[in-house]
Amino acid sequence: MPAKLSPMDALDYLPQPLIIITAGDFENSKQRGGMTAAWVSRVSWNPPLVMVSIAPSRYTLELVEAYKEFAVNIVGERLEEVAYGIFGSKSGKYIDKFSESKVKTKKGEKIKAPVLEDAIVVLECKLTKTCEAGDHILVIGEVVSATKFNNEDPIVFVYGNSAKIKR
Ligand SMILES: Cc1cc2nc3c(=O)[nH]c(=O)nc-3n(C[C@H](O)[C@H](O)[C@H](O)COP(=O)(O)O)c2cc1C
Repeated sequence: MPAKLSPMDALDYLPQPLIIITAGDFENSKQRGGMTAAWVSRVSWNPPLVMVSIAPSRYTLELVEAYKEFAVNIVGERLEEVAYGIFGSKSGKYIDKFSESKVKTKKGEKIKAPVLEDAIVVLECKLTKTCEAGDHILVIGEVVSATKFNNEDPIVFVYGNSAKIKR
């Protein structure tokens, strides 16, 4: 029997990737940051564009807008705990999440931002556009470099359902 759902309840069924967005300057612990994001998608083949939807209050958004670059770190088991923990719950305005979490980090190849060496794949992006979308800002970037670090499966999850779907 079909059941009517509210838009909010229905949206909880959309499968979402577990991603950490990093931005700022790898060399400067006061000017670098990162946050967990699930509202991430590819949006164009040519050029290869990705989109992240970020709430205006996030420190990471400030860094993306200041440096016009960011990295999309695709999370597998190694980074799962820090993605749900420190990168998804604390503000980088007050702490350096990279030293607190002790994640392995290096400077991007084509961007200044830190990239996470325990990610499965990292997409380095140059900001091409931002636009308002309701209560979030869409950040769109062109992938200018990409690195694969390991063979884990990307984590995909559904809100309100603790079971994780794997590739
Ligand atoms: C699983 C998960 C997914 C999240 N997805 C998003 C997202 O897509 N967009 C967003 O703005 N915040 C998202 N957040 C919240 C941010 O990661 C969180 O507010 C973070 O502390 C912001 O850090 P910052 O202020 O240092 O940028 C998510 C958090 C978790 C745990």
